[in-house]
Amino acid sequence: MPEPILNVDDLVTGYGRQPVLHGLSLSVLEGEALGLIGPNGHGKTTLFRTVSGLNRAWSGQIRFMGEDITGLSAAQIAERGLVHVPQGNRLFPQMSVEDCLDLGAFSPAKRDNGAATRDRVFAIFPRLAERRKQRCRTLSGGERQMVAIGCGLMGQPKLLILDEPTLGLSPRLKGELRDAIGAIIETGVQVLIVEQDPEFLRRLTTRQVYIEEGRVREDFDAGSLEHDKMMEMYFGLR
Ligand SMILES: Nc1ncnc2c1ncn2[C@@H]1O[C@H](COP(=O)(O)OP(=O)(O)O)[C@@H](O)[C@H]1O
Ligand SMILES: [Mg+2]
Repeated sequence: MPEPILNVDDLVTGYGRQPVLHGLSLSVLEGEALGLIGPNGHGKTTLFRTVSGLNRAWSGQIRFMGEDITGLSAAQIAERGLVHVPQGNRLFPQMSVEDCLDLGAFSPAKRDNGAATRDRVFAIFPRLAERRKQRCRTLSGGERQMVAIGCGLMGQPKLLILDEPTLGLSPRLKGELRDAIGAIIETGVQVLIVEQDPEFLRRLTTRQVYIEEGRVREDFDAGSLEHDKMMEMYFGLR
């Protein structure tokens, strides 16, 4: 059996003395798109921040492409191809779309391929190509999210982790973003995505995991993210 591209084993972390993840374990297998779902405040963002080196693990292990990356810096982890697009799309308001994207090509090796990568980003997000010279502050919420994801792609990830990319978007833009993420997956980039909408995840990902109180509570097979079960878990109707 091939080693998972990402393997999180018995991860414990938190803030101050307060634990948030209580021994969380999950894997992203080769070729799969994994979706995470679960109530607010239960540690999904904390998991992503710890996996990408922004928060420190208290105990447990994180392996990426067979290597132990626990304790590496965010820059070292990104260099290895694990790129995190954070929740909430904060961009530099005065910078152009193009310049913002170029920030995502964070190392000399990534910058060497920058122009070609940028063309691929524009192919996935044609709206950004049209607005390449526009300042980020003039963009809509959906367009900013596209820049944030585009910026992540400029880092040439093997695994792109997306934290609630459609938060606050209209259904139309949400659909547009879903199609774009689908196109990214088709280019061979694997994704790990947090999203509150089960239908969104069911259409985009091959497996889904429900996270509650800092642990994995349920693992769903491809396409079986059942609406009734989800409602039961969200609202405690068990
Ligand atoms: N910077 C922080 N300092 C202290 N507590 C935090 C911080 N960020 C998140 N938390 C707490 O950690 C818990 C998990 O938050 P988070 O990982 O953001 O959950 P989710 O992404 O699932 O909504 C929450 O109780 C939240 O209040
Ligand atoms: Mg969150």
